Amino acid sequence: MTDQYWPTAEGRLSGRVDLDGREMIMLSSNDYLGLAGDERVLAGAHRALDAYGSGLGLNPSIALTRVHRELADELTAFLGCESVLLFNSCAAANCATLQTLADTPGSTIVSDEYNHASIVDGCRLARGRTRVYRHDDLGSLEQVGADLTGADRTLVVTDGVFSMEGSIARLDQLEPLAGRLGAELVVDDSHGIGVIGRTGRGSVEHHGSAVSTLRTGTFAKALGAGLGGFLAGPAAIVDEVRSRGRFFIFTSPMPAASAGAAVAAIRSIRDDLSRLELLRANVARFRRGMEETGWELLDSPGPIVPVMIRDDERARRVAAVLRDRGIFTAAFSYPVVPRGMARIRVQISAAHTDHHLDAAIDAFAEAARLEPDHRS
Ligand SMILES: Cc1ncc(COP(=O)(O)O)c(C=O)c1O
Repeated sequence: MTDQYWPTAEGRLSGRVDLDGREMIMLSSNDYLGLAGDERVLAGAHRALDAYGSGLGLNPSIALTRVHRELADELTAFLGCESVLLFNSCAAANCATLQTLADTPGSTIVSDEYNHASIVDGCRLARGRTRVYRHDDLGSLEQVGADLTGADRTLVVTDGVFSMEGSIARLDQLEPLAGRLGAELVVDDSHGIGVIGRTGRGSVEHHGSAVSTLRTGTFAKALGAGLGGFLAGPAAIVDEVRSRGRFFIFTSPMPAASAGAAVAAIRSIRDDLSRLELLRANVARFRRGMEETGWELLDSPGPIVPVMIRDDERARRVAAVLRDRGIFTAAFSYPVVPRGMARIRVQISAAHTDHHLDAAIDAFAEAARLEPDHRS
């Protein structure tokens, strides 16, 4: 028997999951639209797998399959951008983009302090220097930007949707600010693509920002494709990363099956907004129900609903109560979030039923009864 370090899931995800033989309601998955178990998406994956096998066994700079080309074309049209480059993950897309575009000692990356770990890694790999501004603080960004004159190239990089807060970066203000600094804005929209903006085009659509903004993202969250990432933006910049990006050239491509799944997912989102509408109704139902429980929720616009517990130990106790009631969540404490800001990050999905959501709210209410001073 192998030693297991992780809970083991059986069966397809659909708002619930069998973990270690126990049925749990899943409140901690990025499968926001319920596409990971969707028949159309799975059919796309199966078709690509049958057509191309498990892979070409080549690096993507040598050759890719027709389904990869189809995916790049679909995404280009979906985002309204000039060009798309595919990666095996968004982590790779972030590292390749930042490392390539800030590859001289005279270049600078200006980065929000709450940015995702893979953005931090990209900054570390770049030969340019990194300056960090306080989270969502444009004054701090301006201050950092004030002494950048003479930089070879400047990038301002931000999560589109911050994964621990669920909040959307203020691209409407970041964009002109980056322009004044002579910088390119890079937005990692991993948690925005498919779910934010009126038609799910992401945080750029939400803010009505320029579609020429450089965007990275993942196919492994709302798009339900299991694996894969992208860089989207002006062809000249995307080509720079295509020709020099180490995380593009010297690693394997996303599998054809994931590319086939992603093509089907994008078409599904493009053609039918009902999943997005269901997701929004589910978020509203969960937020309404949670008001009664007295737990504090961060005010986020999308499917990430952080339930603020603040104290690390209490967060663990609450997660344990939820688990006992069949609700799977993740408690985050320092250093993943700042000290005193422990939270349960709830992620709502279109795959949740009213029963799932109501059971989760009841479990939070039960946890509140066990923590009588939780409002203080
Ligand atoms: C903001 C953000 N960027 C990038 C990633 C990494 O995505 P991928 O799993 O495709 O590497 C994640 C996922 O954890 C994320 O939350």
